[in-house]
Amino acid sequence: MKILVLNGSPRLNGNTAALCEAFCEGARQAGHETETLNVGKMKIGACLACEYCHGKGAGKCVQNDDMNKIYEALETADMVVIASAVHYWSFTGQMQSAITRFYAPHKLKQKKYALILSSGSPDVYDAPISQFESIVNYFGGKAEGEFTFNGFDQKNEKNFERLRNFGRSLK
Ligand SMILES: Cc1cc2nc3c(=O)[nH]c(=O)nc-3n(C[C@H](O)[C@H](O)[C@H](O)COP(=O)(O)O)c2cc1C
Repeated sequence: MKILVLNGSPRLNGNTAALCEAFCEGARQAGHETETLNVGKMKIGACLACEYCHGKGAGKCVQNDDMNKIYEALETADMVVIASAVHYWSFTGQMQSAITRFYAPHKLKQKKYALILSSGSPDVYDAPISQFESIVNYFGGKAEGEFTFNGFDQKNEKNFERLRNFGRSLK
């Protein structure tokens, strides 16, 4: 299947990026195709609640920005991985903006989802996990896996292997 990884961290060589790459390695070993989009580096405006998308726009957002790259990738993806650094107990602002823009298609059609979170401290995941699970439920999908990592030494083989194994296990 085609797996779309949305990395919300603005740090291209950061923890989330390395964790995502480990997951992708495993998934590719199992024969899956992966595409990672660096949402944290994209220019994506938050939803304006103008309702253009649900009227004249017929599912298209009135804003013309980097979200178009995500909409395009979502057309062919079978699974979506939401990956983010934790910023102030939640997703990064960039990821949150992108999530609000799921409003244009209303519900994503994908049925498989996973979550990867990276933070400085442990026990900071209540808000993003709750949001992730609510979204997946709203879309009628299934959370295939939820992973959290924290601290100064996240780019380690144990973490990478956990995510590679998860990637390899996907059917
Ligand atoms: C603006 C900002 C806010 C942050 N807020 C939190 C937080 O609320 N809780 C926490 O544990 N870590 C927080 N951190 C630390 C990051 O989550 C942590 O360093 C993470 O591993 C960074 O991932 P990255 O290298 O992929 O960007 C914050 C970092 C930044 C830059």
